[in-house]
Amino acid sequence: MGFNNFCSALAYFLVGLILIAFGTCEGGFTSNYVRRNDLSLDMPLDSDVFRAPPGYNAPQQVHLTQGDHEGRAVIVSWITPDEPGSNAVIYWAANSKLKKSVHGIVLTYKYYNYTSGYIHHCTIKNLEYDTKYYYVVRSGNTKRQFWFTTPSKPNPNTPYTFGLIGDLGQTYDSNRTLTHYEMNPVKGQTLLFVGDLSYADNYPFHDNTRWDTWGRFIERNAGYQPWIWTAGNHELDFVPDIGETKPFKPYTHRFFVPYQASGSTSPLWYSIKRASAYIIVMSSYSAYGKYTPQYKWLISELPKVNRTETPWLIVLMHSPMYSSYVHHFMEGETMRVMYESWFVEYKVDVVFAGHVHAYERSERVSNIAYNIVNGLCSPVKDHSAPVYITIGDGGNQEGLATEMTQPQPSYSAYREASFGHGTFDIKNRTHAYFSWHRNQDGFSVEADSLWFHNRYWKSMEEQSVAVS
Ligand SMILES: *[C@@H]1O[C@H](CO)[C@@H](O)[C@H](O)[C@H]1NC(C)=O
Ligand SMILES: *[C@@H]1O[C@H](CO)[C@@H](O)[C@H](O)[C@H]1NC(C)=O
Ligand SMILES: *[C@@H]1O[C@H](CO)[C@@H](O)[C@H](O)[C@H]1NC(C)=O
Ligand SMILES: *[C@@H]1O[C@H](CO)[C@@H](O)[C@H](O)[C@H]1NC(C)=O
Ligand SMILES: [Fe+2]
Repeated sequence: MGFNNFCSALAYFLVGLILIAFGTCEGGFTSNYVRRNDLSLDMPLDSDVFRAPPGYNAPQQVHLTQGDHEGRAVIVSWITPDEPGSNAVIYWAANSKLKKSVHGIVLTYKYYNYTSGYIHHCTIKNLEYDTKYYYVVRSGNTKRQFWFTTPSKPNPNTPYTFGLIGDLGQTYDSNRTLTHYEMNPVKGQTLLFVGDLSYADNYPFHDNTRWDTWGRFIERNAGYQPWIWTAGNHELDFVPDIGETKPFKPYTHRFFVPYQASGSTSPLWYSIKRASAYIIVMSSYSAYGKYTPQYKWLISELPKVNRTETPWLIVLMHSPMYSSYVHHFMEGETMRVMYESWFVEYKVDVVFAGHVHAYERSERVSNIAYNIVNGLCSPVKDHSAPVYITIGDGGNQEGLATEMTQPQPSYSAYREASFGHGTFDIKNRTHAYFSWHRNQDGFSVEADSLWFHNRYWKSMEEQSVAVS
């Protein structure tokens, strides 16, 4: 026994040495997890997940997002295929019999030779915080009932759990990702979606019926909890050759966001508060240089974040600023040069991005010292910097980005080319637990995880220790 113990101690020591060697020479950890190398095929049009609900002109593609800045409103969107039908949403609190009704708007759009169904958007305002509501959308006699739960009033200590999915598409893998998110014992209350939704643009003439199938696919989740939208490159649908010159046309008609509530002039960038988090959504595919609308909005937005009210500051964008994969390498670089110093100055906790079809988590680093002549252009450890997480691994038909730059840069803490989803589980003002679940393990295994210590409150505590 003694000898065996000695042997295992020695073995652990050697493994430790090897890990240290890798840690110092090659940066972080590249998972050697062996994936099944099957193609990510789109689910066929007659799949169960794409089935239209029964009944003439039945409302379909029901989805929710937050409808104001504070979390007291919800935007309910749905599509009726044959005629406009009712514009109203009927809703009531679970603990009350008083039914209320609110009317929204209906619109349609054309894309090349496609004509959309009747797209309804209806904002329910002045909801009670922390309350479960039922709601009904209808057309004629066909009624469909769903529910949602409002968050608490923005305040520093409410636990709140966000799910994270990016680049989802509509393959068998997309369905696995969504199923694992739904089955995760850590129950996501709101989904942060980091862009690239349907991948309809990979079809001839950007066949927009694949936007409709996607809407029906996600309804089973997005009809019950808000999905917070970020625009990706697959939302551009910009094809001058077929006369489609208005970028983001299908996306902006189908997915409304409460951008005006945060003083934004475009649905492509905006912010919301939700319980203990402040979420800033940015657009990688809109102008962001100095003097542009997005720049002007962000520079006045960041100082408004009150970390006493909402301690957790989360930024979403599609193209990652830090990614060590070969695919899309350095595409986020110009935005990094523009905005990274602000993220450090305002102590952003975490930046989530998609675009690269894989998973990666950075160390807390910054690269903001360069001034053309000083040569200081490498990332350095920085306790005020956010963690950058790429979660573009929803499972779309383009497949995984498996090729990585070598060696792994020291800023990269963990990278792995597998499909999966994440959860960001806020416990209180100071602590949040992030975990990433690869699809191959089912829903219960965390392949990577990290305790987050709130950047703002951690530095406040360190300062008060230093003073006293
Ligand atoms: C649109 O045009 C394409 C190419 O000509 C064709 O295959 C498709 O059936 C058309 N769709 C509609 C709705 O007319
Ligand atoms: C998608 O996932 C759901 C839930 O796991 C399952 O019921 C359904 O059959 C799946 N559909 C396809 C086409 O994989
Ligand atoms: C920040 O939020 C706290 C808590 O809601 C509030 O007491 C304080 O007045 C706010 N600060 C500012 C500058 O608005
Ligand atoms: C915040 O949550 C963490 C993790 O659950 C816990 O260790 C810590 O004591 C909590 N802090 C407060 C003030 O409750
Ligand atoms: Fe993308």
